Amino acid sequence: MAQLLITGGAGFIGSHACLSFLESGYSLVVIDNYSNGSIEALKRVTQLASLEKGSKRLKLLSGDICNISDLDSAFNSVDERIDAVIHFAGLKAVGESIEIPLKYWEVNVGGTLCLLEAMKRNNCRTIVFSSSATVYGYPKEIPISESAPIEPINPYGSTKAAVENILFDLAKSEPGWRIASLRYFNPVGAHPSGFLGEDPNGVPNNLFPLISQIGVGRRSQLEVFGANWPTPDGSAIRDYIHVMDLVEGHRAALEVLIDQEPQSFVVNLGSGKGHSVLEVVNAFETVSGKKCPCNFVGRRLGDVACSIADARLAKELLGWETKRNLMDMSYDSWNWQKINPFGYKTNK
Ligand code: NAD
Ligand code: UD1
Repeated sequence: MAQLLITGGAGFIGSHACLSFLESGYSLVVIDNYSNGSIEALKRVTQLASLEKGSKRLKLLSGDICNISDLDSAFNSVDERIDAVIHFAGLKAVGESIEIPLKYWEVNVGGTLCLLEAMKRNNCRTIVFSSSATVYGYPKEIPISESAPIEPINPYGSTKAAVENILFDLAKSEPGWRIASLRYFNPVGAHPSGFLGEDPNGVPNNLFPLISQIGVGRRSQLEVFGANWPTPDGSAIRDYIHVMDLVEGHRAALEVLIDQEPQSFVVNLGSGKGHSVLEVVNAFETVSGKKCPCNFVGRRLGDVACSIADARLAKELLGWETKRNLMDMSYDSWNWQKINPFGYKTNK
């Protein structure tokens, strides 16, 4: 089974992916600078995967993707060659990217350039990259297909689009590259055990962690951004995807890259279904038995009425589609938050 380098494996999606890849038999080297990740998450991955202490199947390295020697050390940390990289590491907060754009370009684009150079030096030419539906900006058509215009509306989105372009140029320049850019819609939910989940620092920006924290009493009410969107109930619609479906999409993409002739592709990872904010609130109230008080406020800058993936290409190309629905996502998010009211820390 292949040996993978996982960047950003201590984060929300990366930690779930580590577990899923270990359960599928892969061996992993994880590099993370822990700027937004948790060593506790990786300890729990070790337990959930039933790895013995010191197992050679999971090597954890503290390092930065912007640091060439950290990356070379990661490639040289195992006797076997690294067959592929799953690249999650990056900065992801839209608002912050508007405040400190240079940091976003440095980490998301500069860090990826360092990584690609390190891959070349170490003779590894297979990469799965975490892109985002945010590259589409204000969608012109719903559902959004991969051929829709790329018009990011914030620095975070611009960095994701820039990396996609770099990968496109790289694939054209050297035929041996195997590259998947996966445009995630709205990843939510948690591992069904309740031991891995999303643990944002400070006040969450995103809907699911906010509602979960209201459920455990850490916050008092949800500010619903906009009550007069052109949608059936007036609240905005998103394509939420369970993190376990998402990581299974990565496994499917990697298998296509490894098993087939070298190729490069861009594909949406979404469910193809949309849910409004109020539907999410209802689902949460049902699974948790808790009230989620809502206060309707103005629209958030940069928000759109509706974002739903055209999920057909993922099915055709990867043989993958989502299996979990809104109730599963709500149940697993709530289960995680209920068991870990303060996330991976004992209190915050
Ligand atoms: P996350 O912040 O939980 O995980 C990112 C990980 O990368 C963290 O553990 C962080 O410590 C690490 N990291 C950051 N900078 C680093 C650096 N310079 N060197 C090494 N490690 C570094 O985020 P996530 O939600 O797990 O997202 C993973 C990827 O998916 C990101 O690239 C993000 O942009 C992308 N993405 C996420 C979402 C989402 O809603 N979560 C949506 C679309 C795309
Ligand atoms: C946000 C990012 C997007 C990123 C995505 C990752 C912005 C403008 N967009 O998208 O670039 O790819 O996260 O998952 O930050 N909502 C409320 N009240 C809240 C929080 C959210 O009503 O306190 C609403 C939002 O208006 C939206 C929905 O809930 O309609 C989902 O919001 P969120 O989880 O932040 O995701 P996105 O806005 O889709």
